[in-house]
Amino acid sequence: MGSGAKAPSRTRQVLPWRLDCHVAAGDDGAAADELRRGLTAARPTIPARWFYDDRGCDLFVRITGLDEYYQTRAEQRILDDHMDDVVAAHGPSELVEIGSGAARKTRAILDAMERAGSLERFVPFDISPGMLAGSAADIAAAYPGTRVHAVAGDFSRHLSRIPRRRAGMARMVAFLGGTIGNLEPARRRTMMRRLARLLGPGDCLLLGTDLAHDPQVLVRAYDDAEGVTAEFNRNIVRHINSAFAGDADPDDFAHVARWNARASRIEMHLRVRRDIQWSIAGLGIVVPVEAGATIRTEISCKFTRESVEDLYRDAGLQLASWHPDPTGRYAVSVAVPS
Ligand code: SAH
Ligand code: AVI
Repeated sequence: MGSGAKAPSRTRQVLPWRLDCHVAAGDDGAAADELRRGLTAARPTIPARWFYDDRGCDLFVRITGLDEYYQTRAEQRILDDHMDDVVAAHGPSELVEIGSGAARKTRAILDAMERAGSLERFVPFDISPGMLAGSAADIAAAYPGTRVHAVAGDFSRHLSRIPRRRAGMARMVAFLGGTIGNLEPARRRTMMRRLARLLGPGDCLLLGTDLAHDPQVLVRAYDDAEGVTAEFNRNIVRHINSAFAGDADPDDFAHVARWNARASRIEMHLRVRRDIQWSIAGLGIVVPVEAGATIRTEISCKFTRESVEDLYRDAGLQLASWHPDPTGRYAVSVAVPS
């Protein structure tokens, strides 16, 4: 543990940040295989990671500011209201953030750690090296004396590349934004077990989860009036075209967002407007899609306190605190190894 933000012995100069990159567009064999399998399945799907090229990251940032997309504001408010207490309870000096994106809400956590005088190191992890480089530089400049070690990787495969936890430093692992809900149930459980493995005694996990509520409000959050989410959805086609020499016209795809009550999730699909043959040379496939058929691009599962506790239990964790927003639409919770 360092001597604290206000301690005179601590060097307060801006430290150089570091970025380790374990992803490269178009030349990741395992990611390409997964994409090929998804696109050629009887019910075609595209893994959600393909939303997040530079343009997709920018579109997601625009989504977070939309009136309809309440999730980001709700989570920000919870973090603003509760992080001092959470930091006091768990005393983290290192923050590891998975799927950190623009790392804007992150500042509420870092600020609380700085106020407590414990902030030592920030490790953002994301699939987008461009986004990471920007956020790592910004955070290093805004929090002098804090080491920033960014890792670009796929959270399904590269969590082991996260730097080791340092002896004597309590770690908080944050997985915010409701991104856990973008994983299918089996992958979600695997992911939670992997997150649990990043924790040692005294560490904690901070998890953001969107909650099940009014389906109309939920569908609007994924089908905004301005059409930003529709563009985010179509951008997945552009990204695949550019990473794998594909030839589909994104305008041939219509955005669809629907509520699946049985699975308690929003689904996003792309509905093809006319018969197409999507040739993707870099994957060695031609995907025939008939007019009206859909490709599923995202699931976004909505939770209850019970289903979150269940996830924790399965991963060998236990709920330490539960922080819903005042509308009950969103919750941030803290878990510790059990
Ligand atoms: N935490 C931020 C961003 C959420 S958007 C927030 O709450 O606003 C989801 C983030 O996860 C994006 O930044 C995206 O690039 C990243 N992401 C998506 N799939 C990923 C994967 N398989 N591995 C690592 N990062 C991924
Ligand atoms: C990143 N993830 C939690 C977002 C969500 O709400 O599922 C992605 C998103 N898709 C459409 N809008 C936002």
